[in-house]
Amino acid sequence: MSRTALVTGATAGFGLAVAHRLVRDGWRVIATGRRAGRLDALAREMGDRVLAHALDVTDAAAVAALPGSLPAAWQEVDALINNAGLALGLEPAHKARIEDWDRMVATNVTGLIHVTRALLPGMVARDRGHIVNLSSVAATYPYPGGHIYGASKAFVEQFSLNLRADLIGTNVRVTSIEPGLCGGTEFSGVRFGGDQDRAAKVYEGTEPLTADDIAESIAWVLHLPARMNINRIEMMPTCQASGPLAVKRTA
Ligand SMILES: NC(=O)c1ccc[n+]([C@@H]2O[C@H](COP(=O)([O-])OP(=O)(O)OC[C@H]3O[C@@H](n4cnc5c(N)ncnc54)[C@H](OP(=O)(O)O)[C@@H]3O)[C@@H](O)[C@H]2O)c1
Repeated sequence: MSRTALVTGATAGFGLAVAHRLVRDGWRVIATGRRAGRLDALAREMGDRVLAHALDVTDAAAVAALPGSLPAAWQEVDALINNAGLALGLEPAHKARIEDWDRMVATNVTGLIHVTRALLPGMVARDRGHIVNLSSVAATYPYPGGHIYGASKAFVEQFSLNLRADLIGTNVRVTSIEPGLCGGTEFSGVRFGGDQDRAAKVYEGTEPLTADDIAESIAWVLHLPARMNINRIEMMPTCQASGPLAVKRTA
């Protein structure tokens, strides 16, 4: 019988690429996100291997009700891809909008832990499962204007490693995926409030990672022998590297 994955944020970018990839690899996919129309279109395109299930990860009540609200045949989730997330703004911390900070924490941190807490007991009870969390190189390497986004992704990485500490003795795996610059998604458009020209400049003159590259890494960790747990994958496009530490000198 084919395995079932639940992907958060499957309406665009990495989540959409992962949904396509896993269906191609023989999985059934519960595609979630806020834009129900896109989920329905995906289900129509992919057929009965995709279940469209609208879900806002910041809606705590809907997330808590998630396992029981799935059709009976879809309730045993083998892999949770915690992908929904966003960055908002690039202003320095002392000028950033506090509402943006709250929304990043609500989505990248609180939303992710609530979805995990909703699905983890079932995985432990069945003694099988895999949680793949989308962190970022921003978890490790600070950049100007990264503040809460980087901190939220550091949380995701550390949460992933701590989950493993609790799950030892079970066959539930956890992986933190930590990509660098990745193009072809809505990420920068969302960050800059829909300013597509500014978003396009982020990728100008670069060959960034693609959503399919991320899907490839996720498919890889999922398909490894059950005895292997990949804790973290940090990846960057070849055109990117961690910069030198900054030093401000007087003139
Ligand atoms: N692109 C990069 O360079 C990059 C690098 C490292 C890590 N990441 C991380 O990778 C993940 C995916 O990024 P991406 O580039 O694919 O971004 P994207 O194209 O903007 O896609 C983000 C997805 O998250 C969903 N989402 C946002 N808020 C949500 C909410 N409250 N509830 C449910 N779904 C929500 C969106 O769906 P709806 O709007 O339909 O809800 C969308 O499907 C994010 O966690 C991001 O932080 C991205």
